[in-house]
Amino acid sequence: MNITEYLPRDLFKGKPAFVTGGGSGINLGVAKTFAALGADVAICGRKAERLEAAAAEIGAFGGRVSTSVADVRDLDALRAAFAKSSAELGPAYTVVCGAAGNFVARAESISSNGFRAVVDIDLIGSFHASLAAFEQLRATRGNLIFISAGQASRPYAFQAHVGAAKAGVESLMRNLALEWGRYGVRSNAIVPGPIEDTEGMRRLGGAAGGDEQWSRNVPLGRFGRADEIGAMAAVLASPLSAYVTGTVVDVDGGSGLGGSAGFNAAVARTLAESAAKGEL
Ligand code: COA
Ligand code: NAP
Repeated sequence: MNITEYLPRDLFKGKPAFVTGGGSGINLGVAKTFAALGADVAICGRKAERLEAAAAEIGAFGGRVSTSVADVRDLDALRAAFAKSSAELGPAYTVVCGAAGNFVARAESISSNGFRAVVDIDLIGSFHASLAAFEQLRATRGNLIFISAGQASRPYAFQAHVGAAKAGVESLMRNLALEWGRYGVRSNAIVPGPIEDTEGMRRLGGAAGGDEQWSRNVPLGRFGRADEIGAMAAVLASPLSAYVTGTVVDVDGGSGLGGSAGFNAAVARTLAESAAKGEL
């Protein structure tokens, strides 16, 4: 999608965006949408090479890009990343908490450490980013966007850890909307449906998006694209949403409407295939 056909090219000029986990997938798509709309963009993640490749894609839109190697589980590292991006781009106006981890596993086979790793990255990591960003968001009267998932509100098989983590993320989003509204800071979440060509879908077994068993669970009949999540993030960050805070927006082609039964059947196949290959 060429977002500038629908929103002004300078919508976020002078309004930097910071995207955690912005080096790949959906978060990179969101980062590129903000860049296309005039924002300077900061991204963080654990792998420098991935960040540099992403920075080239984001920078192609003409704005400045700040990268930081930072694990969202490390608050000091995130504080340093936000200080660096503020020095390079100015204080953040939009902060997207997108860094996350996932794997498919039966509840009884998830170790304490495995459960904790996902909660630490998704939930504690989102809290860390919010904390590190607070003074900047207060100064810019900016906004937070959390990337959640359907697992937050419905039980999905073999996703006990992810459900707990993302439910926490949505709870945090609402709390921050309640507490930080007085500073003019808004806080919202997006629930993507199955998005094509993403690591998330590869891990669930949905591959690139052409898989019929997955697509038939989506009323709109197809996987979504990262730029469709970017478009909703742009709308939420823009003045069009000036009176919107504390909300969860599903951008999922309707895939949440049928509950998780379709997902459970599809992901059970993934688990069985992994077991047959001796991976479990
Ligand atoms: N099934 C069961 N347990 C698993 C697992 C799997 N497929 N993959 C990892 N774990 C467990 C590990 O065994 C370990 O637990 P243990 O110490 O009791 O053995 C624990 O999870 C942490 O693993 P580790 O590899 O040390 O964690 P990490 O911090 O390096 O990585 C993950 C975090 C596991 C979430 C990793 O998959 C990751 O980095 N993911 C990021 C990318 C991603 O998931 N993208 C999709 C986003 S939705
Ligand atoms: P992805 O490409 O793997 O995105 C995750 C990003 O987070 C990566 O760039 C990763 O980079 C980074 N990251 C992971 N752990 C981190 C950590 N500890 N510290 C800092 N950065 C970390 O996967 P994706 O599928 O696009 O998922 C993006 C978001 O969308 C996630 O929040 C996910 O839950 C959500 N979502 C995805 C789908 C889907 O269909 N794919 C559906 C619903 C929701 P490094 O590994 O280099 O750190």
